Amino acid sequence: MKRIAIITSGGDAPGMNAAIRAATLTAIKAGCEVFGVKRGYQGLITGEISELTSLTVSDILHRGGTILHSARSKEFATAEGREKAIKHLHDFGIEGIVVIGGDGSFRGALELSNLGFATVGIPGTIDNDIECTDLSIGFDTALNTVLDSINKIRDTAVSHDRVYVVEVMGKNSGFIALYAGLAGGADAVLIPEVEPDLDQVVQRIEMVSRIGRRHSIVIVAEGIFGDPLSGRAFSESAAFKVATYINLKVKKDTRVTILGHIQRGGSPSALDRTLGTRFGAKAVELLISGESRMMVGWVDHDLKVSPMDEAIARKKRVEPEVYALAETLASI
Ligand code: F6P
Repeated sequence: MKRIAIITSGGDAPGMNAAIRAATLTAIKAGCEVFGVKRGYQGLITGEISELTSLTVSDILHRGGTILHSARSKEFATAEGREKAIKHLHDFGIEGIVVIGGDGSFRGALELSNLGFATVGIPGTIDNDIECTDLSIGFDTALNTVLDSINKIRDTAVSHDRVYVVEVMGKNSGFIALYAGLAGGADAVLIPEVEPDLDQVVQRIEMVSRIGRRHSIVIVAEGIFGDPLSGRAFSESAAFKVATYINLKVKKDTRVTILGHIQRGGSPSALDRTLGTRFGAKAVELLISGESRMMVGWVDHDLKVSPMDEAIARKKRVEPEVYALAETLASI
């Protein structure tokens, strides 16, 4: 393996740059040339490919986002799009590709491996919904960003005796909402995996009032009523729906905060930098040793390599016992 490419695809995640840096430096050390593909699979189609050196990956470890930019490419899903992509890969003499992203990105990687290129995936999504790994790059940083916001919201909620409904990301996945609820002490957490019970949320707020606390925090994943990206107006966001219901039933000053893309940015946490670095180095080692169609993951506090097919076979679901704990603590 002499020439390796790196792609970041799908939603960006803090720590992707750490993975790009580690993959690049590991490959250079092993005598390979490394190329960065801009804008995910779309950049492969348009030929936005350039060499990565130890200088181009300097000073990026602490930066959020991805220096390679990212995109979701519809064209790559077509045979014509893939043909253009392959031509560019051949032009650059690329044999192996490191793909950093979520399950959609891994489906693209498997397409490329079907066409003769070695591919290794690195899980990178704040949603943390990839199977075969306990953690995906970006989840820890996003979670800390959400917690920082909840702390601030709690200050003003206490001062004004208000109910705050905080909407976090998670179209199909409740990891951010659940862990933010657990670590932030929310009174209710609504996640896409569980049918929303708004009357139960109201009961919790009333219970909290009965024990003498006048404020409440409710955390809502954006996807509890279905895909938030399917063209609904902002005013129909999950948090507004929940807040409107609460306001109707408990007649308390109820406010909404939608954290949105703030959750995807920011300097990666120590954990995401470490995870990105270990994943990046391991992915290149795998390519050099002749592996393909594999994903690096983090299981039981150690690196674990799994078949990419297995990682995309289903979405990772929140742990029922963690959800049960959040529920129990919120109802006492
Ligand atoms: O990166 C994952 C994710 O943040 C989801 O939680 C969210 O629903 C989606 O991406 C938003 O994507 P986009 O920025 O493309 O609208």
